Amino acid sequence: METLLQQMTKAAGKAFEACGMDPAFGKVNLSNRPDLCEYQSNGALAAAKQAHRNPLEIAEAVAEHLKDDPLFEKAEAVRPGFINLTLSPEAVAAYLNNRKDDPMLGAEPIGAGKTIILDYGGANVAKPLHIGHLRSAIIGESLKRICRFLGFHAIGDVHLGDWGLQMGLIIEALRDKEPGLPYFDAAHKGDYPAEAPFTISDLEEIYPAASARSKEDAEFAARAHEATRRLQNGDPGYYALFRHIVNVSVADLKKNYGNLDVSFDLWKGESDAQAYIPAMLAEFKKKGLLKESEGAMVIEVAEESDTKEVPPCLVQKSDGAYLYATTDLATIVQREQDYHPDEYFYVTDKRQAMHFLQVFRAARKTGLVGEKTIMTHLGFGTMNGKDGKPFKTRSGGVMRLEYLLEDVAAAVYERMAGSDMPEEEKRRAARIIGLAALKYGDLSNQATKDYIFDMDRFTSFEGNTGPYILYTIVRIASILNKYAAAEGGSADALPDTILPAADAGEKELQRILCGAGEVILSSYTEKAPHKLCLYLYDLSNAFNSFYHDHRILAEEDPARRASWIALLAETKRVLSTLIGLLGFEAPERM
Ligand code: ARG
Repeated sequence: METLLQQMTKAAGKAFEACGMDPAFGKVNLSNRPDLCEYQSNGALAAAKQAHRNPLEIAEAVAEHLKDDPLFEKAEAVRPGFINLTLSPEAVAAYLNNRKDDPMLGAEPIGAGKTIILDYGGANVAKPLHIGHLRSAIIGESLKRICRFLGFHAIGDVHLGDWGLQMGLIIEALRDKEPGLPYFDAAHKGDYPAEAPFTISDLEEIYPAASARSKEDAEFAARAHEATRRLQNGDPGYYALFRHIVNVSVADLKKNYGNLDVSFDLWKGESDAQAYIPAMLAEFKKKGLLKESEGAMVIEVAEESDTKEVPPCLVQKSDGAYLYATTDLATIVQREQDYHPDEYFYVTDKRQAMHFLQVFRAARKTGLVGEKTIMTHLGFGTMNGKDGKPFKTRSGGVMRLEYLLEDVAAAVYERMAGSDMPEEEKRRAARIIGLAALKYGDLSNQATKDYIFDMDRFTSFEGNTGPYILYTIVRIASILNKYAAAEGGSADALPDTILPAADAGEKELQRILCGAGEVILSSYTEKAPHKLCLYLYDLSNAFNSFYHDHRILAEEDPARRASWIALLAETKRVLSTLIGLLGFEAPERM
């Protein structure tokens, strides 16, 4: 199905054509002056330039045609050549009635037949999930859901950091603690124990202690480096230990991501790409794309049009070691082999922007990906505390995700103090609302910007917050239930025909509802979940002022009352679908 904006664009295109011009001039946009009109088309300006004519004259001629179109109540040419458009209430209601069975809310399945790999999460094995990984998980999960909604075969890969020095540090710390373990016995034959010699809580102690020790104890640091090197060269005992570390860690990560309602299709890591590196580098070399620079191997990726310096992509150090970029390139080799995606999408801290620019260019230059493959890095800003510095716990440490979730749920619970909900339901609702507060608080900011984590503001039931959106949904659900109870029907079989709006407030609510498909499409093309938030906030505000101005259940005209119920049900459907795309859900009550 088409979005209403597409229908308007078509109508305007026809009007341009009828005036002897290219229909492509007919693009219609949401008005950026909502006080003057709902939509506008600026094509007359470009058309006039091309034809050396007066733009206002063209706009007037086109508007004249649009006036007869039942889509519009008003079509008006204004200086210097804009066409201001206002939809007719009939067209708005007709669009909604037409769309009522469309699960895509009017958006076309632009992803059908296409595969996209979403690389997000990016947790590092054996290190606890912390705030730094929060944004990647939240943003990536939302984009994955948006892509799926639009028909993509969307594959989420957590891309674990599992191939670094933390492994050597843990191995050596473990050796000091339990030197008798078979993993350290070079003479050991056969299989290693299936059971890990540590639990997740052990690991959580071992790693930070070993990391701190390596900064003071040079001998220990050297051993950890050596152990890392031996692991990477395939030492069987170390490799068996490595598998234990990964397994124990992944089980814990799954639980934590699960609490965030974030999931992955693939649990691959940097280690999985290592096997692809030697052949990949040999191929680069054969193609003459590797250059030696001070003993290291690099791929030149600078381009003439660069306005800032783009250093060569370093793929092998002089001591033979591989780097972060090498692993990312090899991961592309692996993904091409397994999925041949049309699109790659990475979500990390924006400080990695240069890394991804280098990797993308190297992947293109070496032909790892085709020319048409889309590669995007979304670099997000920092989540800061109220002091404007990266968010920390009260004691100044790095905040662990699970504690943060608990804190947010506790703050919501406090706000619900007056509610007479049974205790257990209240606690459950507080967790659901807390997650919405956290995710919406994050996603409502443009991803690239830093933002301030403000517990009071994020958990407020009023204003541009997750709880406010949920509150709107819960409020609608309760009206629908009351209606169903009063009319003796069920909340699943409500009236579903919407009449043309009778006043401006109702028209505004109906009109905003029409835009859902459009906003989902642009949240994908611009990789911008914050657009969904903006829309949800507008829609919730439009609903709440409509609710304030109309006595829905007490309305005497049964046809009008039924239409309003249909309008409410549609509002709820749109709100619920969109919060699902953001990655959270509404409680039954709040
Ligand atoms: N583990 C990395 C980190 O903590 C993020 C990985 C992102 N993905 C990638 N393909 N490089 O910074």
